[in-house]
Formats: sequence, structure tokens, C-alpha cells
Amino acid sequence: MTDTITLTRPDDWHLHLRDEAALASVLPHTARQFARAIVMPNLRPPVTTAAQAVAYRERILAALPEGSDFQPLMTMYLTDNTPVDEIKRAKAAGVVALKLYPAGATTNSDAGVTDLRKTYATLEAMQREGLLFLVHGEVTDADVDLFDREAVFVDRVMGPLRAAMPELKIVMEHLTTKEGVQYVAGGDRFTAATITPQHLLYNRNALFTGGLRPHYYCLPVLKREEHRQALLQAAASGSAKFFLGTDSAPHASVMKENSVCGAGCFTALSALELYAEAFEAIGALDKLDAFAGHHGPDFYGLPRNAGTVTLKREPWTLPEAVPFGDAQLKPLRGGDTLNWKLIA
Ligand code: DOR
Ligand code: ZN
Repeated sequence: MTDTITLTRPDDWHLHLRDEAALASVLPHTARQFARAIVMPNLRPPVTTAAQAVAYRERILAALPEGSDFQPLMTMYLTDNTPVDEIKRAKAAGVVALKLYPAGATTNSDAGVTDLRKTYATLEAMQREGLLFLVHGEVTDADVDLFDREAVFVDRVMGPLRAAMPELKIVMEHLTTKEGVQYVAGGDRFTAATITPQHLLYNRNALFTGGLRPHYYCLPVLKREEHRQALLQAAASGSAKFFLGTDSAPHASVMKENSVCGAGCFTALSALELYAEAFEAIGALDKLDAFAGHHGPDFYGLPRNAGTVTLKREPWTLPEAVPFGDAQLKPLRGGDTLNWKLIA
């Protein structure tokens, strides 16, 4: 039995860091696990300009623990009105990607895109400048069942988008379905996807085990077991199209344990340990290194990190809660014993 795993120092290709006191609370957890992270722009108000992305990056760097070399990779929030000119400024400012939030799809998505065709001139500029397009792939039509939103998005939106922008690098974020896996696996070299730890470890039953479980609620929502199996196979296939993106999304526990519960699982404390658990369960620990440390930078056209991290088989108890500004934040699996531990 393998008792230690050495990995290329990994990155998180999908992360929510929030701002101000919340940012200061969660950032050290990610900086301990990852060298870089793609930082989501769904603040209130959202990060829609290059100047806002630069200012946000400064606030993140200022909140880092002493001595940390963690590097935030910045994104902007695409709106119906993102000017074509803004893409050149974004490129010059070091922004690496724009994020699609279909209006109304999730947390802070009100300013999102109402009709993708309105953004085509901007997407063309991104394709020219080499900025990536990160997609929250769910339709928001009220007549589409919540559990079908990703499959319908793949069916209706991806074909025309790809036909219009043949060389735009697209990442389908937090993939959750077998339809999504099939689309990405069968797609061209400009298409990839991130997969979260919760979608590898749980199916939708986890939301209802013994009662309603708010800390397992995220968007896109957990799906049936057959979809989890497809995601596991994709993550462990060795295909360079699939890579690590936690979608760690902190919400104060008073907001999660509420009559209306915000979407998001907080996994930054133990992300690598959770991925190791998922890969081990299907006998694929040898595939974790490339998934966590190679495929992401390769797709983004960035260098892989130098150095390594080590996970050890050593039971430890995940804290039930950690500080979150003045509030409390409950990690997914808080209070549970995990079998893998990041030691260096
Ligand atoms: O579960 C989620 N939480 N999904 C998202 O798309 C947004 C995120 C958040 O910002 O909390
Ligand atoms: Zn997200």
C-alpha cells in the first residue's frame, strides 16, 4: 500500500477568495496547498474591468501570509457589455481569462450574460489575444430541471459557441455530468474542464443523508451516481483535458445553515487530501500528479511549478469550523477524520 505521495507542486484552477476580512481568512489555506490559483471574479460588485482585476490582485497579495510565494491568476467577469477594447487592457494587465456566468445561474451572477451572442465581438478579441474563456455551463431557463441544466447547456450552447470561436480556449468549469465529460473528452484541443473534489466524492444523495445537508450544496448541484462515475473515469483517465479546480466557495455558516442556503462548498483546508481520497478509491493515485500539477498549466500555456508537495497516509481530524472575518466557516467534511495529510 502506498503511504506517501509526492506530487508536482499543484495549482487550483478554480477558486473563490472573496474580499476584505473574508479574503484574509481563507487565503492562507489555499496558499498552503497550492502555488497558484485562478481567482473567480464574482465579488459584489463583480470584477468587470482590467483595472479592477489589478486592484483585486493587489489586495490578495497584501493579504498573503509572510513569506508566501502564492500567485493569484486573475480573471474578469464577462457581461453583455464588456467592451472589446477592455480585452487588450486585460491582456496587458496580466489577466488570464474571462468568466461566463449566465445571468441568474449562481452566487453573484445578476450582472452575468443574458445572451452569449451579445458577447461575440468580445470573445473574438479574447481568441485573438489568447485569453481563456471559463464557462459556468448551466442554462437558467425556468422550465429546465435544475439537475439537467448542464446537459442542456452542453447540448444548446457549446456547439454554436465553438463554431463561432474555433480557437478560443474554453474551460468548462466544475463539470458535473456524463454529458459534460463526453463533450470535453470528444472535443478539440481548445476545450478542457475542471473537476471539484465534491463532485468526485459525492452524488446527490449526500445532500439529503439523514436530513438536509447545506454544506454539500453547491452549483452546479451534485448529480446522480452515474455522473460521479463518469467524472472519476475522466479525472483518472490521464487525459490532459481534465484538471484540478476546487471551486472552494466560502459562505459563513450562518448563511449556509439558513432558510435560504448559499451555494458553495468550502474545501480549501483539505483539497489535496480530498482529491487523494477520491483517486485512491478507484485505484488511480498514480494519476493524481498530472491531474493536479501538469494538465492545468499545460492548457493555460504556463510553466509547471518547480518543486513538490507530499501527502502522507496519516489520519487527522478536519476542524469543524474556522474563522471567517467575524463569522465562522464550516469546511466540507468538518469534524471528520481524513486519511491523507499534506505534510510538506
Ligand atoms: O457553488 C457555487 N458557489 N457555485 C458557483 O458557481 C459560485 C460559488 C460561489 O461564489 O459561492
Ligand atoms: Zn466557482
